[in-house]
Amino acid sequence: MPFSAIVGSGSALPGDPVTNDQLAQQLAQKGVETSDAWIRERTGICQRHIAPAEVSSSDLAAQAGARALEDAGLTAKDIDLVIVATSTPDMIFPSTACLVQKKLGIEQGAAFDLQAVCSGFVYALSTADLFIRMGKARNALVIGAEVFSRILDWNDRGTCVLFGDGAGAMVLQASEEPGILGHVLQARGEYENILRTAGTVSHGLAQGHPFLTMDGQAVFKLAVEVLESSAREVLSQARLTTDQVDWLIPHQANIRILQFTARRLGIPLDRVVVTVDQHGNTSAASVPLAFDQARRDGRLKAGQTVLMQGVGGGFTWGAVLARLTR
Ligand code: UT7
Repeated sequence: MPFSAIVGSGSALPGDPVTNDQLAQQLAQKGVETSDAWIRERTGICQRHIAPAEVSSSDLAAQAGARALEDAGLTAKDIDLVIVATSTPDMIFPSTACLVQKKLGIEQGAAFDLQAVCSGFVYALSTADLFIRMGKARNALVIGAEVFSRILDWNDRGTCVLFGDGAGAMVLQASEEPGILGHVLQARGEYENILRTAGTVSHGLAQGHPFLTMDGQAVFKLAVEVLESSAREVLSQARLTTDQVDWLIPHQANIRILQFTARRLGIPLDRVVVTVDQHGNTSAASVPLAFDQARRDGRLKAGQTVLMQGVGGGFTWGAVLARLTR
């Protein structure tokens, strides 16, 4: 059975960043009060990108995907699997993955979306690894893409300042040497009510409340707990210890969650990739966006061990441990 390895990455962010001050000014016009100081202190976020109305998840996904293909030295003809993790698809169907296939001119292999909210990319990467290890694909394009700004209640200051739009992508390729060393995926549906967008489709009609609601403190507590336990579990599977992790890339929701997790695992903060300050929480896009940024600025190098982690609505969480082969 072959292994799989990450051979390319790419990312895409729409437009110019919107700073906390700019956002606070826009919200003040609606009577919603917030400040740069509150957002920075409680979350570590300084800015986020917000997609203009004409830009969809599949646009951002295709852009990130094209960059990942270029980085891997591959073309559309090489890709035989596309998985897009998103909770903000362009439409009910076709899947965002099929739209990406069309935009990139990929004409073979399977394409589907995967919905595990902020854990989506880690779920998708694990799924692609299994496809490759089973011999069902050779070159998988795995993408996390979101336009979360579309499902935010802009009158709820407790959530609307936290999220941003963007996409990140990786190419996972069959490999003789191990790249993906292990993964763990978990879900606890009993916590579905602490983070949700409860709009539904009933008899073909969109109904209900299509905006995100969150019990921030409950999510915070659970996130810190499961980020530690899933990290320990995936490391023990691979018989590695936390000091053998070169880079921790957790889901970028809140700098305080990242700090707690790093402290609990005994990983110094200078070995944690942090992008929440620049991107906010981009849900399924956050881990591959952070990975691509750290790879392109030269922090991630061949031979290093990287621990990626997702956590979010569902409640879902997961971890993927990878050795970089290039
Ligand atoms: O990707 C999914 C994962 N999501 C997460 O991981 C989010 C996890 N949760 C969190 O990051 C934090 O719980 C939040 C950042 C959402 C909230 O931080 P907190 O320290 O738990 O604040 P809080 O909800 O307890 O609110 C404290 C105060 C409240 O005012 P009072 O009741 O003390 O007067 C809020 O009304 O802060 C107020 N507040 C704000 N003030 C200014 C809430 N949002 C804002 C805001 N600007 N944007």
